[in-house]
Amino acid sequence: MKLYILSKDKAYDCVACEIISLVTQYPDATLGLATGDTPIEIYKRMVEDHKQNHTSYQQIQTINLDEYVGLANDHPNSYRNYMHEHLFKHVDIDLEYTYFPSLESGFLKWMSQSIIHLQLLGIGNNGHIGFNEPGGSFESSVHEAVLTYETIQQNRKYFSSQVIMPKKAVTLGIKDIMKAQKIILVATGKHKASILKKMLEEPISNRLPASILKKHEHVTIYADFEAASLLDLSHSSYIKKEGFYEICN
Ligand code: PGA
Repeated sequence: MKLYILSKDKAYDCVACEIISLVTQYPDATLGLATGDTPIEIYKRMVEDHKQNHTSYQQIQTINLDEYVGLANDHPNSYRNYMHEHLFKHVDIDLEYTYFPSLESGFLKWMSQSIIHLQLLGIGNNGHIGFNEPGGSFESSVHEAVLTYETIQQNRKYFSSQVIMPKKAVTLGIKDIMKAQKIILVATGKHKASILKKMLEEPISNRLPASILKKHEHVTIYADFEAASLLDLSHSSYIKKEGFYEICN
């Protein structure tokens, strides 16, 4: 596992750069995408690059980590709508190949046959990845998840007072995420410092779903100075390399 500790802007630049180089090198790659506050600046950079350098998404397939149950695709709070607003409508992607988790057999078949080349992840304040909440199985595949109180509190801010926030979502499971060829987790801001420390410095446990990523062979974490501020970087599990840390468990 590699850990880069950078300024927030530099972290977003690097992640966007990694995605753009994958798309350039493999124009028909499958990208695993995330929603929330963290990826917004990354998508902005991808859109800028598309405008300036014409990086094409025409043959790219995308699969998002999760989608709320009970919201229409064009509902302002659906994750499809989020992706449309922040990325899809600004680039030349074919919307037919932009997938969101569902329990329909067509989707499950597509999922079983697909390889995610690069999975982008944020981390929830409770350690969730996608909507894989604490206590869930590491063996889970696509499933309907009941959101925890903490997740509802974290995400309520996106919903206007007139809209009842869904309490359930369909999410890729931990097993689906772990099958991705490469994973990038981004943690920025002071509010992510404590969960990032627990994820990296405590034993792997399903009480902290993101901790399982320590078992994946190709994970890169981009943290800003604030999110990394509580890490015990003098511990022997952090090996200092040129520009990053290799984390050994
Ligand atoms: P955030 O959410 O990017 O809004 O912090 C991350 C997550 O809950 O996975």
